[in-house]
Amino acid sequence: MQLKSKVDVLLGLQWGDEGKGKVVDVLTPRYDVIARFQGGPNAGHTLEFNGMKHVLHIIPSGIFHPDKLNVIGNGVLIEPAILSQEVEALRGRQVDATRNLYISKKAHLILPSHRLLDAANEQAKGNAKIGSTLKGIGPAYTDKIARTGLRVGDTLEFDFGEKYELLKLQHLQMVQTLGFDTASFRIDGMTLEDYERRWMESLQLLRSFHLINSEYFINDCLRQGKRVLAEGAQGSMLDIDFGSYPFVTSSSTVTAGVCSGLGVAPSAIGRVMGITKAYCTRVGAGPFPTELFDDTGRRLCELGHEYGATTGRSRRCGWIDLPALRYACMLNGVTDLIVTKPDVMNDFEEVLMCDSYEIGGRCTDELPFEFNAVEITPRWVSYPGWKQSLAGIDSYSRLPQPLLRYLEAIEQAVQTPVMAVSTSPDRKDVLFK
Ligand code: GDP
Ligand code: IMO
Ligand code: MG
Repeated sequence: MQLKSKVDVLLGLQWGDEGKGKVVDVLTPRYDVIARFQGGPNAGHTLEFNGMKHVLHIIPSGIFHPDKLNVIGNGVLIEPAILSQEVEALRGRQVDATRNLYISKKAHLILPSHRLLDAANEQAKGNAKIGSTLKGIGPAYTDKIARTGLRVGDTLEFDFGEKYELLKLQHLQMVQTLGFDTASFRIDGMTLEDYERRWMESLQLLRSFHLINSEYFINDCLRQGKRVLAEGAQGSMLDIDFGSYPFVTSSSTVTAGVCSGLGVAPSAIGRVMGITKAYCTRVGAGPFPTELFDDTGRRLCELGHEYGATTGRSRRCGWIDLPALRYACMLNGVTDLIVTKPDVMNDFEEVLMCDSYEIGGRCTDELPFEFNAVEITPRWVSYPGWKQSLAGIDSYSRLPQPLLRYLEAIEQAVQTPVMAVSTSPDRKDVLFK
């Protein structure tokens, strides 16, 4: 099949929250279609412009551009009540998402009982909790793979109610086996029954969207030469296969996920823009070799406002981890790097990078299989801080010399050019090289 264009990809190279939402919003004018390919309401993508801050969870970050189309692909999980809240919040900002958001009929649904099961599973893990966002991601993807899930298109069928009840019953049985107290379980302060009512009501809104076979839609766009940007959620280190398993999410967060999550061939992938913070954060449990437990870690958290956009939890902070970044660039075939939040380190005397790991007295650049179990000592390289504000700097070449050297060091370490740097939460502050 002759395609006139390819799908460009923008995804996170760390443990999520790299600034994907902001950068997708900035890149949207260059594209015709913005498409999410995996994840669900566990994502929290923040956009800021004109003094306004908005967080998106399921809806792609191109939604504030009325002349662009947004697509939720088959690989995404949809929680109708959360989608409904997002649509309402956008209405409050004079954005009518039902106009320019198309949804795949093949996208799977998160039921209220998936969220119950998520909470029960986490509780059963005791000290080994993943730190899930408790949006039902794990259980809903489990049903997808087990071939027991329900999809957006199923809500149009006459027997949807029956199928729903059957699946819910299975979930309730599992929850009972886990010994979880369903009666005191709440979602947004609501009992399961009350929340279920809201969930059912929101199906009406879901059905009012353009429900499509997104694989045909996206490939038609490519045949016509339209420009498509795939927006990742979470980050490569949370990938189900390559992340720090089991402390991961349940989807393919890497470029490969674009093919299965949108229905495009590998040969239809164009540029892969990988986004990384100038330092590193992680929310939830799991290994984090460069994590800082000292004042510097606390400063990164405070200055970077590192609190989860979905759960409000404070994010763990540390220096940039080059072995992990190289790994992510390899897995994704990153062609361009985008670095965010160097401004958070404006006042630092020095900034460190972890260049390699020391494991059992041996130096290595490879993330070990036993990533969760072994003690990893980072080997640090120090760079002088730039000790100045980045506010008002309007071109890449005018960035302070020490910061340019820091960025060059990242480029060299991962053998990938930096395409742009973001210097504030605001849409206007992205400097392209
Ligand atoms: P996402 O999940 O990758 O979209 O990222 P989040 O929205 O969860 O977290 C990124 C946070 O950093 C948000 O609060 C953004 O507003 C903010 N942010 C994005 N880019 C920059 C930047 O260059 N500098 C600063 N200081 N904040 C940024
Ligand atoms: P965005 O798209 C950061 C983390 C959770 C938890 C693990 C599993 O905003 O970058 P899940 O709810 O998927 O079962 O949680 O993954 N996690 C994220 N961390 N950013 C995200 O999304 C995340 N989505 C999930 O904290 O550790
Ligand atoms: Mg986020």
